[in-house]
Amino acid sequence: MAHATDTTGTEPTRRDFLMLTTGAFGAVGAAALVVPLLGQLAPDAQVVAAGAPIDLDLAPIAEGQAIKLFWRGKLIFVRNRTKKEIDEAKAVDVATLRDPQTDEQRTKAGHERYLVVYGNCTHLGCVPLGNAAGEPKGEFDGWFCPCHGSHYDSSGRIRKGPAPLNLPVPPYAFTADTKIKIG
Ligand code: FES
Repeated sequence: MAHATDTTGTEPTRRDFLMLTTGAFGAVGAAALVVPLLGQLAPDAQVVAAGAPIDLDLAPIAEGQAIKLFWRGKLIFVRNRTKKEIDEAKAVDVATLRDPQTDEQRTKAGHERYLVVYGNCTHLGCVPLGNAAGEPKGEFDGWFCPCHGSHYDSSGRIRKGPAPLNLPVPPYAFTADTKIKIG
């Protein structure tokens, strides 16, 4: 069933965080972000089960906002980064990183404000915090995994704590200025 949920709780009118299913994108793209979805628009179950590529419109994701979705049964985060977050990510001395990757290697040229990563901690798989408004983003403006204290930066790179690797970047490509296809 395709659906979108505002999880901010205390501010129900504010869409700081959107939880979307794979079906939402496969069926109706951007509309999933802004309108209630109709059950009959859900994609064919076999298409979802096969893990077909999904189209996602990033335009509704405000600067500083993040969403999460599922693709092929795996959690994915998409963040529209602030200038401060981008600058911080680019300023890191890659040689000091546990899993050395530049921010350029983890984003698409010309679309640096968007970061797309798998959303499970590379330690033992918990879901890091840092998407919803008010959630801790850790010491590096990215995500914080409360299970054992891993801190990821604004490029999704592991910076502190037991996690061994960066949050991986799934296969995706921009099909328009604010549209991507995952898979
Ligand atoms: S699962 Fe994230 S720190 Fe252990």
